[in-house]
Amino acid sequence: MARKKIALIGGGQIGGVLVQLIAQKQLGDVVLFDIVEDLPQGKTLDIVEASRVDLFDVNLRGTNDYKDIEGSDLVIITAGLPRKPGMSRDDLLVTNAKIMKTVAENVKQYAPNAIVIVISNPLDAMVTLFQKITGFPTNRVIGQAGVLDSSRFATFIAWELGVSVKDVNAMVLGGHGDTMVPIVRYANVNGIPIMELLERKYNDKNKAKEVMDAMVNRTKMAGGEVIKLLKTGSAFYSPASSAVAMSEAILYDEKRILPTCAFLNGEFGVKGYYVGVPAVLGANGAERIIEFKLDTEEQTALDNSVKAVKGLVEDMTRLGF
Ligand code: APR
Repeated sequence: MARKKIALIGGGQIGGVLVQLIAQKQLGDVVLFDIVEDLPQGKTLDIVEASRVDLFDVNLRGTNDYKDIEGSDLVIITAGLPRKPGMSRDDLLVTNAKIMKTVAENVKQYAPNAIVIVISNPLDAMVTLFQKITGFPTNRVIGQAGVLDSSRFATFIAWELGVSVKDVNAMVLGGHGDTMVPIVRYANVNGIPIMELLERKYNDKNKAKEVMDAMVNRTKMAGGEVIKLLKTGSAFYSPASSAVAMSEAILYDEKRILPTCAFLNGEFGVKGYYVGVPAVLGANGAERIIEFKLDTEEQTALDNSVKAVKGLVEDMTRLGF
């Protein structure tokens, strides 16, 4: 079987980690594209020179020519500016929409059959724009946000309970902004509901709720917390890992249920928008949305998050994108 071809558009911080992870896992041959001359060539050369040590054997190529992404099976997009301290993801809208327009036109021309994962922010708007410009079927255009937001949520829960993060299941739905919706009711440690464990730990329902609320808030603000510490840019290891998990599910047709920024056609009461929901990821991209019943509070929070996504998409349309 021929190796898969994976194009990475954007060779910055996330792009570099993506190349390294994909190479180490031997998911396919990689073409790293960036507009900055020599940058993608330098990064891929640096990483491939570790191949003897790390024992991977795939082709890694850096380029400034879109033609080189021709025929890619999978495209992951990180092109665009990251946030600086004090900025919201939405502040990136105009700059990154301009970039996304060129990226989409070129992916449409050179990799018309690819499955595409967008990481650039503001995520929900960028995925929407990419799909609109390419006209690709919506199952083939998805965004990475929920895998990372959920992993952040799980990390905080593991720290709080003193258990391995491997045993924590936690899911975050909604848009990739401050309105995201961590679902507490289904969060669990190996099947045991989180609230039960917190209530046992504190022997106090109110205190347990207070602790959980703090973890929910930290999850919503987790991207900003990293930016504040890094000062020069935003998180890049964890977004890359998250996109690689989605890529593996697609390339190996795993049918994993991962929180994905996917196009909704009535599911969860949302029609015609990209929002974070659990989706089955396999060889055809987002093959199915997994719907489940939300309680009133969760549905209100999701509606509020969808409202924020709609606002952003409307702003983008008004600005001519
Ligand atoms: N085409 C291709 N690449 C571009 C373009 C373009 N038109 N414009 C900028 N780039 C490249 C930059 O040259 C840079 O190398 O995109 C890369 C972005 O890398 P970083 O600035 O390091 O940003 P990164 O941390 O990788 O984040 C990328 O993902 O999570 C989001 O908010 C984040 O929008 C940001 C994106």
